[in-house]
Amino acid sequence: MNRFILLSIIMLMPICLTQDISVEKLLAYNRWSSQNQRVYLNEDEKLFRQMVFFENLQKIKEHNSNPNNTYSIDVNQFSDMTQEEFTEKILMKQDLVDHQIKDIGQQATNNNDNKEMKASNLAIAASIDWRTKGAVTTVKNQGSCGSCWSFSAAGLMESFNFISNKALVDFSEQQLVDCVIPANGYSSQGCNGGWPVQCLDYASKVGITTLQSYPYVAIQKKCAVTGTNNGFKPKKWIQIPNTSNDLKSALNFSPVSVLVDASTWGQYKSGIYNGCNQSNIRLNHAVLAVGYDQQGNWIVKNSWSTSWGENGYIRLAPNNTCGILSYNLQVTA
Ligand SMILES: *[C@@H]1O[C@H](CO)[C@@H](O)[C@H](O)[C@H]1NC(C)=O
Ligand SMILES: *[C@@H]1O[C@H](CO)[C@@H](O)[C@H](O)[C@H]1NC(C)=O
Ligand SMILES: *[C@@H]1O[C@H](CO)[C@@H](O)[C@H](O)[C@H]1NC(C)=O
Ligand SMILES: *[C@@H]1O[C@H](CO)[C@@H](O)[C@H](O)[C@H]1NC(C)=O
Repeated sequence: MNRFILLSIIMLMPICLTQDISVEKLLAYNRWSSQNQRVYLNEDEKLFRQMVFFENLQKIKEHNSNPNNTYSIDVNQFSDMTQEEFTEKILMKQDLVDHQIKDIGQQATNNNDNKEMKASNLAIAASIDWRTKGAVTTVKNQGSCGSCWSFSAAGLMESFNFISNKALVDFSEQQLVDCVIPANGYSSQGCNGGWPVQCLDYASKVGITTLQSYPYVAIQKKCAVTGTNNGFKPKKWIQIPNTSNDLKSALNFSPVSVLVDASTWGQYKSGIYNGCNQSNIRLNHAVLAVGYDQQGNWIVKNSWSTSWGENGYIRLAPNNTCGILSYNLQVTA
């Protein structure tokens, strides 16, 4: 243990006498902070972060020791963030989402050509997992930027491109973050949040380029593409009706872009997640559903790196867990 840390411990003592700061916890913190390469503004911030981490560690211990829980939680890149910070930095801004949901509702009724509500009438398999068919790209990391919407949309287009053209290519989330903007007629707001359907509309006109040619930097920059021939173009997409059977049916055709309430997902590690407050769902995150298992649990690809969850994935309990049936989108041509 270096002197720096030792000093922190001594200084921390009076602040959190109620917390039992064991050597074990300190070692856990040291291991975590070196793995996560944390740089803090100053010693005060560091002490604060340690306290938050210790509190999270305590929650993890309590949660995981209860055999009734169907999922486990663990430390990860969010473990020194408070709930408020996690909501602020990682998820989409609530007022923006609420506003957009209203807007999109209107758009859907204005234009029932591309955006009509229609279930694909496929037979529903007992289970499906598009990862096993090689139709899903690697898990990405959005960083401290509420750009989940661009990852959800890119993931949707990547899988559709694979299914229809047999080519698995990573598309550019950064292009969406930089170009699906008010100046181009969209209400998406870069790192504050945005809307997958607007990405499809944009890409249908301009084309989405590859991740390799327009890499992700986790901040919003000036749009760096011109012209209307930049790559893959979706032609048609639909909104999926909000029942389990409709989502399952859609998943038999391809992965689906879904909106969820991820307020409580921060420390998820593994198992069947059912930790959302079902009587207070607030859609604040966009992800990609890639299948369901025989028990009806949804298999969902997130954009918080492979160190989060089950190698970057989460399994959600059946039905409308975390609002997963609320607002879903699929490319059909
Ligand atoms: C687990 O669930 C059972 C049955 O609902 C309950 O009696 C028990 O107190 C629970 N255990 C814990 C540790 O919460
Ligand atoms: C869930 O949300 C409801 C409605 O906002 C609230 O009354 C309740 O306290 C919440 N439950 C938990 C466990 O947070
Ligand atoms: C999910 O919905 C099905 C059919 O509507 C129902 O039978 C089942 O009990 C529900 N499961 C949960 C966990 O709510
Ligand atoms: C599902 O969609 C119907 C309209 O098709 C709507 O009336 C209902 O409130 C929606 N339910 C949920 C849980 O979003």
